[in-house]
Amino acid sequence: MSYRETYAAWQADPEAFWMDASRKIDWDRPPSRAFFDQGPAGEWFADGMLNACWNAVDRHVEAGRGDQLAIIHDSPITRSCRGITYRELRDRVASLAGALRAKGIQKGDRVIIYMPMVPEALEAMLACARLGAIHSVVFGGFAAHELAVRINDATPKAIIAASCGLEPGRIVPYKPLLDRAIEEATHKPDFCVIFQREQEVAHLTEGRDVAWHSFQFGVEPAECVPVEGNHPAYVLYTSGTTGQPKGVVRHTGGHMVALAWSMKNVYDIDAGDVFWAASDVGWVVGHSYICYGPLAVGATTIVFEGKPVGTPDAAAYWRVIQNHRVKSVFSAPTAIRAIRREDPEGKLIGEYNLRHFKTLYLAGERADPDTIQWAEEKLGVPVIDHWWQTETGWPIVANPVGIELLPVKRGSPSVTLPGYDVQVLDEAGHPVPAGTLGAVAIKLPLPPGTLPTLWNAEDRFTKSYLSHFPGYYETGDAGYIDEDGYLYIMARTDDVINVAGHRLSTGAMEEVLSAHPAVAECAVIGVADSLKGQMPLGFLCLKKGTNTPDAQVVKEVVGMVRDQIGPVAAFKTACVVDRLPKTRSGKILRATMVKIADGESFKTPATIDDPAILDEIAVALRAVGYPQHA
Ligand code: COA
Ligand code: AMP
Repeated sequence: MSYRETYAAWQADPEAFWMDASRKIDWDRPPSRAFFDQGPAGEWFADGMLNACWNAVDRHVEAGRGDQLAIIHDSPITRSCRGITYRELRDRVASLAGALRAKGIQKGDRVIIYMPMVPEALEAMLACARLGAIHSVVFGGFAAHELAVRINDATPKAIIAASCGLEPGRIVPYKPLLDRAIEEATHKPDFCVIFQREQEVAHLTEGRDVAWHSFQFGVEPAECVPVEGNHPAYVLYTSGTTGQPKGVVRHTGGHMVALAWSMKNVYDIDAGDVFWAASDVGWVVGHSYICYGPLAVGATTIVFEGKPVGTPDAAAYWRVIQNHRVKSVFSAPTAIRAIRREDPEGKLIGEYNLRHFKTLYLAGERADPDTIQWAEEKLGVPVIDHWWQTETGWPIVANPVGIELLPVKRGSPSVTLPGYDVQVLDEAGHPVPAGTLGAVAIKLPLPPGTLPTLWNAEDRFTKSYLSHFPGYYETGDAGYIDEDGYLYIMARTDDVINVAGHRLSTGAMEEVLSAHPAVAECAVIGVADSLKGQMPLGFLCLKKGTNTPDAQVVKEVVGMVRDQIGPVAAFKTACVVDRLPKTRSGKILRATMVKIADGESFKTPATIDDPAILDEIAVALRAVGYPQHA
């Protein structure tokens, strides 16, 4: 079937389409139907019973794939590489789950996982899934405060952490961050499991911490516990407008069905293929396409602990693709820009045998046509931009390579996938004609695998996503659809920025800056960056009578963001200004500031209080090197 036929088949009978897709996974009790009109936005496969770990691991052993590699851990940072077969994975996960169960973890309990890119991170996720416990993975680049916020919201019974993560040239000790987070949090976990890495062995807190290996000694391996289709598999926190992150809930049934469908139809991956998502388990890409997706279809997944450049060079990706016969790679445009900067002619690519490599997928931020063209020319494979969000868990708009490779239009992530009805709306919520810019929204209901609500925050879910355009899910992105049905994503409509493919909230950074004793008022904007796509930039108005030199305040706030949000925020610069540009009603004109910083033309907003402030902002920006190309 062509893409058009497949999309039409879904449109004609969504129930039948998703029931058919649900048969690709194993159910302890098959669902009686696909969609259930319940909860704030509907739920999927609610009366089926299944286990995600069974689907990702055990069933492949039963089907004779026990000796196939399930996970390859390739770590240029530790100069090591090892494989884990499906049989080994099943035994390791069953043992870990058994130990967790022996310590009291059962269905519905939350478990936070704070681990770097080691296979044990996936094993921890799968062990939770085996028991029906709800995991919440926290990205290792977040600081203690961010971890504490998530501990308070998820109220985990246990935390599973590694002793350290490894960044190029430095060890990131996780244990002190974990201890600080638990100290700050009002909720305390019953116990912590610490996976000791040889690069930094952590001191265990007596009475609270147990060691990964020793706590598994002598335990009975756990079997898979069947859960309802609408039982939460995990909660993953993502940036919203404020410092309080949103806990995206993922229901087990829709999650497994949608991932299995997308592995074949979007990524063209079958059992036995090798798939590599070069992301991190702390992000949604890691959940869907490092862990559950490839494993759900019996493929081999790569857990890569390194960077596209500097570990040790710009050939890291090509080496991994060659050595492990990777069929498809999923990465962020920023990684390709980083490689191109180091190896503009792509000379290193020629040194590797990439004959198994078929497709490069990019997502997480806008893929600029120039980067796509470079990758196409140097790699000689289709480069597929695709668009989705933590909330949806799998692509919304993509070139459906597994169904049919459609013509690539650089700058567009291509067409809407079955399950989604994407529309571009004007401010009043009316669909706009092709080619017209507007808010990108998805007609309800959302398909299986997408968020049914926010953890502990149903009102926030409704308010954030469903209330602005009744009958639609609001994506927070702006863009347009062309005459051929190709979508173009142009910008965010909220305070979320995208730094090196990482989604960050400028509101959260502003909360940190305003806590500095010398700061009277502040704003953070995302400015264009040739490597990372965007970088945060702060503006500070200091309190009258502040004696601390401006440079000192800037240094201190930079340190505060690193300390409270984490190094991943990449907050490196702020300018001290006398005033911020505002509307007469007091709203800071961030969008205008972004245009000045990016050197784009703009119209002075009619509502501005005092236009002269814009010149002051331009002067302050020039002093810190913006616009970049000026
Ligand atoms: N634990 C601790 N610190 C981390 C971390 C982690 N898991 N991940 C990143 N950091 C730190 C980095 O060390 C860096 O610290 P520094 O300020 O001391 O240098 C900071 O956070 C910013 O990291 P990063 O955004 O990774 O930038 P970088 O300059 O180290 O590398 C790129 C630049 C482009 C190579 C890198 O951003 C990259 O590989 N991006 C691809 C991202 C990606 O695949 N995203 C997935 C979305 S699909
Ligand atoms: P995250 O939830 O971290 O995956 O971030 C989702 C957001 O990243 C989207 O709402 C977009 O703003 C942006 N994004 C993701 N993929 C793309 C893409 N292919 N093109 C443009 N923006 C993207």
